Amino acid sequence: MSLRLVANWKLNGSREFNNKWVDEFLKNFNSQNFPSIGIAPTSIYIDHLQVALGDHAIKIGSQNIDIEEAGARTGEISASMIKDSGCTFCIIGHSERRMLFYETNQQIGQKLIQANNNSLTPILCIGESEEENQHNITFNVLETQIIEVLNDVPDLHSLIIAYEPVWAIGSGKTPNPEEINSVHEMIKDVVQSRFPKIGLESVLYGGSVNFKNASSLFKQQAIDGALIGGASLDGREFALIANVFNELRE
Ligand code: PGA
Repeated sequence: MSLRLVANWKLNGSREFNNKWVDEFLKNFNSQNFPSIGIAPTSIYIDHLQVALGDHAIKIGSQNIDIEEAGARTGEISASMIKDSGCTFCIIGHSERRMLFYETNQQIGQKLIQANNNSLTPILCIGESEEENQHNITFNVLETQIIEVLNDVPDLHSLIIAYEPVWAIGSGKTPNPEEINSVHEMIKDVVQSRFPKIGLESVLYGGSVNFKNASSLFKQQAIDGALIGGASLDGREFALIANVFNELRE
């Protein structure tokens, strides 16, 4: 099953956090649908989190990968290393990486190729700024991001796109669910019509998803799941969100 709910822990966590999170999650999660769930911890905790999760088939991924496979690139981590650590996916092009680390669409395309070469499913993040949203140019901005990123990527076995409006991340604000649904329809349309060789698995929504708004989002037919930051740091809340998802979709 393709990933539907992905926790992005960003720069948070510790061994103690991993243990407590797994405990809280398992106490509150009421389904066996583990394979639809992914967690992206900081890379240094991938091994520890795998041990903490035990037999539960939750997938683990990284929050980033390098554009290169190996070499003199101090501080970087390659897709093959992430794969070698037991991960199945990686987040690519998150808006924090674009803004804080100046990642370009071209580099993001290179990272997609690295992920694909190493059989990792990339979660490509795209999203508009608040100003772009207010100027009603969201569709154009997203279409340009998709085209610029995918143009040099001839084919991908698998791809997940996360639509994350930059202004919705960590702000408590979200577009309304119907608006998100129509953006997701547009994203699917653009990828399928322009890049038929790319295996688009799903389009997730990200940006201030929490237990309270989860059901209104998951009721939308084109919202395949969610990429969750702040609310995913609490194992109990993440489990409750996953329960809502399973009730509506299983
Ligand atoms: P948020 O973050 O859920 O805290 O808004 C989402 C993300 O940045 O992926």
